[in-house]
Amino acid sequence: MLKRITIGGARRIAAAAVALAVVGGVTAVADAAAATDTAAALKDTAPFAVGAAIDQREVSGAVGDLVAAQFDQVTAENHMKPDAWYDANRVLRMHSQAAAIVDFAKNRGLEIYGHTLVWHAQTPKWFFQNSSGEALTTSQSDQDLLRERMRSHIFGVARLLSERAGLFGDGNPVTAFDVVNEVISDGPESDGLRRSEWYRILGEGFIDQAFRYADEAFNGLYAEPGAERPVKLFINDYNTELASKRSRYIALVDRLRARGVPIDGVGHQFHVRLTVPVSAMADAIDAFTTRGVTQAVTELDVPTGTPVTSSLLDAQGTYYRDAFAVFHARASALRSVTVWGVTDSRSWRAADGAPLLFFDDLSAKPALRGALAAAPVPPVELDVATRCVAGRVVLTATVWNTGSATAAITVSTPFGSRALTIAPGGRAAHAFSTRAVSIPAGAAHGTGLDLLAPLEASYAGASCS
Ligand code: G3I
Repeated sequence: MLKRITIGGARRIAAAAVALAVVGGVTAVADAAAATDTAAALKDTAPFAVGAAIDQREVSGAVGDLVAAQFDQVTAENHMKPDAWYDANRVLRMHSQAAAIVDFAKNRGLEIYGHTLVWHAQTPKWFFQNSSGEALTTSQSDQDLLRERMRSHIFGVARLLSERAGLFGDGNPVTAFDVVNEVISDGPESDGLRRSEWYRILGEGFIDQAFRYADEAFNGLYAEPGAERPVKLFINDYNTELASKRSRYIALVDRLRARGVPIDGVGHQFHVRLTVPVSAMADAIDAFTTRGVTQAVTELDVPTGTPVTSSLLDAQGTYYRDAFAVFHARASALRSVTVWGVTDSRSWRAADGAPLLFFDDLSAKPALRGALAAAPVPPVELDVATRCVAGRVVLTATVWNTGSATAAITVSTPFGSRALTIAPGGRAAHAFSTRAVSIPAGAAHGTGLDLLAPLEASYAGASCS
């Protein structure tokens, strides 16, 4: 039996587990579904890079495989922050967790979005103290000392990373870095800047200085000669979805650009919740699209609130779908979208209710299915054929990509689902087989309904008993 059905223009990112169907006492084992209930890889559905914040717990085993399969890039959730680079004796070295992340990224072909070089938090106290342990003042010599500490920190981080994984632009997985983090004030300060120790001692100029040092180190001294700015330099902040905070952010970015500061990108953390309209994230991105910078969603998470219920998880799936639809619609403005963690209980917001894309057992949440479902549908055509081979039913699905862009789709069948990435004009096929002696009509699960309808017709009569 062979059919060709055009499904272009219809949504066909199918998701979900393919359930074991037990009908009439006959078990149809979904052996072709293999290891995962995850339909497509998020990274294959997005024109921007998608990332996850991780630590060493996520670089090996099944979760390491999941990260490598689903994401284009990773960010160290904690271990590339300023204080992570120093031992108890104030000696600069790479934290073992940072090293594990760098090695993982390099070995698995992932990029690293670094976080963060200059921050008011998670920074050693001695940065801001003199040799007697007293707070630095705004004297010229104290300012020079702090500026030199910043320079030495940034150059030291770049050196350690390049020693471990190669020059930037020559195989080093680091391709972006949050140079300054959370420098915007939460209240209406006169210049809109956070009153941090960096600010108290050096004034607004510390931000310029951080970018200039980062540019010299990551795109100069430790960059492959000839590489064109291999590490994109970002400013990063939270609550940019709020108009007041955003206006202060915009004003600073405009000042930095007017002063010729080498800033490439603006980061939006987007630690949101279900009650924040996704239009607020759209507004945040749109506000920067004419400002000569690229952008990134750097720390996305969306807790459900507690107690976590299945209807809240579904609502969260809808939220992630709508959020990713916002990002897809602004793909030309976005370098990457990073989710702040992989599995729910590992999140810093776990207590607020299951904020991420994966359950703790690594299975896909409605949130992941939502993010996948937001991808625009490429035009594809589908053939389905069933046959018997040595008592097994073999169902072969062949998909043609009739569009002009690479298509990342998932074929979902009663016997398993398979993610396929197909070049423009190309085709891909996958054979699913089952030991079932009879194939029960109506046992299909999933959301690829435009595929499943023809499948039902296709497999209904297929019995190899
Ligand atoms: O390292 C110690 C460990 O030795 C100890 O056993 C453990 C006990 O609680 O604490 C560990 O440190 C914790 C660290 O995470 C590593 O797990 C800190 O207490 C904890 O405060 C720290 O929280 C991190 C937080 O930044 C610190 O500011 C979160 O994991 C991390 O997700 C969060 O990330 C920030 C971004 O960098 C910037 N934007 C906001 C975002 C959320 O706060």
